[in-house]
Amino acid sequence: MAAGAVVGAWMLVLSLWGTVMGDQNITARIGKPLVLNCKGAPKKPPQQLEWKLNTGRTEAWKVLSPQGDPWDSVARVLPNGSLLLPAVGIQDEGTFRCRATSRSGKETKSNYRVRVYQIPGKPEIVDPASELMAGVPNKVGTCVSEGGYPAGTLNWLLDGKTLIPDGKGVSVKEETKRHPKTGLFTLHSELMVTPARGGPQRGRCATEGSPVGGRARRGSSSSWWYCDLDL
Ligand SMILES: *[C@@H]1O[C@H](CO)[C@@H](O)[C@H](O)[C@H]1NC(C)=O
Ligand SMILES: *[C@@H]1O[C@H](CO)[C@@H](O)[C@H](O)[C@H]1NC(C)=O
Repeated sequence: MAAGAVVGAWMLVLSLWGTVMGDQNITARIGKPLVLNCKGAPKKPPQQLEWKLNTGRTEAWKVLSPQGDPWDSVARVLPNGSLLLPAVGIQDEGTFRCRATSRSGKETKSNYRVRVYQIPGKPEIVDPASELMAGVPNKVGTCVSEGGYPAGTLNWLLDGKTLIPDGKGVSVKEETKRHPKTGLFTLHSELMVTPARGGPQRGRCATEGSPVGGRARRGSSSSWWYCDLDL
């Protein structure tokens, strides 16, 4: 009885674990191919399997099977049962499910949650100040980064530390724009500082990795700013 309860508890734990672990999160780079495996599917036809997609391109669920036609240039089922998206786009974010039955009749489900990302271009500082005056607010410049997804952030750094806008010595004015066709983001960040007396100001502007971008490198590109302090 007690043993049965323990086994029952384990079954419950395993089944809950199954539902939680069942959703695999995938991040895919925009414009690159993506292959999702249909777990438990026979490696070659004939196969009993079905892909179901719910993304920005579908109305409710779109169903794809090995026997059916490919979905234009969006997605198709490969001979081994995996799903191929030849070039991932923003609209492909969503849920992908496959249900396969093995030759011995065992059913396996695969669930994927797909997010996409794009690494923005190297940030550039436009209109940089050539010198700063101590004790008064100065515009250092505007940092611009184009073509990222999701929007991400721009940071200003001084001596390797992120400058935190405090509305007094440091203030930042940010603007995020979305390209109407590509859906990619352009960030603008204008930095104002009130330098204390002493020493030149040297820092940089850097992009922060995208929130979901497991593979997006963080702060990998940066642009330097350097201003002499007018004392
Ligand atoms: C996938 O992402 C969701 C939401 O972002 C999270 O709740 C879940 O735990 C993640 N799953 C895995 C297996 O990492
Ligand atoms: C199926 O084929 C594709 C393309 O050749 C490959 O990328 C993928 O890993 C294969 N899937 C399995 C489960 O072997």
